[in-house]
Amino acid sequence: MLLMGIGSRGLELGTKTGTLSLVVVSALTYYVCWRWSETSRARRVAKLGRSAAGSSSLPSPVAVLPRWIPFVGGHTLQMESEKMMQQVEGWADDLGGDYEITLIGKRVIFVTDPEDIRRILLLRPSKFKRGWRPVGVYPSLFFEEGKEWGRSRRLIAPFLSGHKNVAGMVPSIAKIAERVCAKLGDGQGEPVDFVQEFGRYTHDAIALSGFGFDADSVRATKDRPSVSFEAMGAIVEAALALSVDPLAMLAWSTLSSLLPWVREIKEKSSRLQRVVEGAIDKTRSEMKEAGASHPAGGEEGALLRKLLSVEGGSDNAIKDVSNRMTLSDKEIVTQSKGLFLAGSETTAKTLSWAVYFLAKHPEMHLRCREEALRAAPLRTANIERACIATTRRSQETTTMKSGLKLEAGTAFTLLLRYPCLSEHSFTRAKDFVPERWIDAEREEALLGQPADRKSSDVVHREEVAQAFGGGPRKCPGMDMAHLEAAIILAAISARFDLALAPGQADPPEEVFKFTAGVESLKLVLTKKVA
Ligand code: HEM
Repeated sequence: MLLMGIGSRGLELGTKTGTLSLVVVSALTYYVCWRWSETSRARRVAKLGRSAAGSSSLPSPVAVLPRWIPFVGGHTLQMESEKMMQQVEGWADDLGGDYEITLIGKRVIFVTDPEDIRRILLLRPSKFKRGWRPVGVYPSLFFEEGKEWGRSRRLIAPFLSGHKNVAGMVPSIAKIAERVCAKLGDGQGEPVDFVQEFGRYTHDAIALSGFGFDADSVRATKDRPSVSFEAMGAIVEAALALSVDPLAMLAWSTLSSLLPWVREIKEKSSRLQRVVEGAIDKTRSEMKEAGASHPAGGEEGALLRKLLSVEGGSDNAIKDVSNRMTLSDKEIVTQSKGLFLAGSETTAKTLSWAVYFLAKHPEMHLRCREEALRAAPLRTANIERACIATTRRSQETTTMKSGLKLEAGTAFTLLLRYPCLSEHSFTRAKDFVPERWIDAEREEALLGQPADRKSSDVVHREEVAQAFGGGPRKCPGMDMAHLEAAIILAAISARFDLALAPGQADPPEEVFKFTAGVESLKLVLTKKVA
């Protein structure tokens, strides 16, 4: 009995010692492998410093796990999802420009040089493709590639830009801006979250000016919600989860009909579909009644009217859908979701930065107000502070400016904002000096008025500022975004004084979701004394 007792204790001890040794040996093996991989990498990076040309390596931040570990190896676990923009720009600062990391077993290059960025933007979609598309998001202009992209781009993009089309959007967008200002006026004294309000404004602007239905999320309440706004909120949340959370991706693809959150999104999405289908039917019958196949601009739903006005043409007989120069109703619904996704949050976050700067710079606010009251174009507000990183995958070997050769299939992320914040591109790059965009005022605003000032002291490389991207896939909504900004900033500046609400972080916190931008910006408004 005693022997048996000692025997089992010994066995127990033996098992514990065995487990402990296993843990120690695994930890040591892991450490040696990690040191080996990081040291050999550091050696390669040091070599790169001496002769970059022809090399295929870039510097890299230290990874918490060795790159060879499947799925979670390299930098995968250290990405700070909401702070990702600051993190990747910080690494560019630390490593002196371009660098690479390993994400989910794949090499990803971060490009910071403005000329490389411009060249890569020009060479897509032929040589570079978008790096990812969230699971569950239907392809629309933003996420399409190849022939499908070309067709959608030719059909949609021309109607979103250009003087005539944009001028036609003014009445619809001004109507929504009026609603926003009425709501702001009613809630005077209470802190207002501008990110929320601008999210509603930009959503309603796309719905009314583009698709001719009044989403009215600005005045929506719990009892009278805006169907399309609610649906897009759910779609955006789901797309975000589905682009970063492997469990959500698995659930979506395998259990989609069983999970309540998936069912809810699909339900909301179908409600949005019905709203857009309703707008299509209404517009079609209005057009039929008016007998106008090419109506003049200036109406609500101008984009939808233009898309429907090419209907019935001979190309409906073309069998290969990607060759048809018309969109089916189903395609219009999908494209509308894509435009809400691409055009609402981006513009709302940019506008939030703009009102933050106006609240902080009363002299600029006054100038905006004067210009608004004179109905002059709002050229003074440097509002484009959208922070976008765009991901691409190369289709063939690419040589960077530094001479680095990168093989086909390499994933790139272009840090569009990074070079804009450099003194090599703009004098006092990190300061809010909107006059830098006005030739006649630039020098004085940036340098003061010393007698011996030389214009060569001012650096102003306008071509580096690519907040809307560039090349064939440049943002087609740029003119519309400028219009939305001019109308709402003029309306708000003319009517209200702005101040940061008590407790509002200064500067506001920047969070990365689809784009990086202000997560919440609470301001207190007072009606301007006449
Ligand atoms: C301040 C506001 C906006 C900013 C900063 C912005 C920025 C951008 C950028 C950088 C791209 C290129 C992305 C890439 O190449 O990966 C892009 C593409 C796009 N944007 Fe915008 N955007 C804004 C507003 C809008 C608006 C108002 C719309 C439409 C209503 C819109 C629709 C699109 C679409 C459809 C694409 C994809 C184009 C293509 O791939 O051919 N955007 N945007």
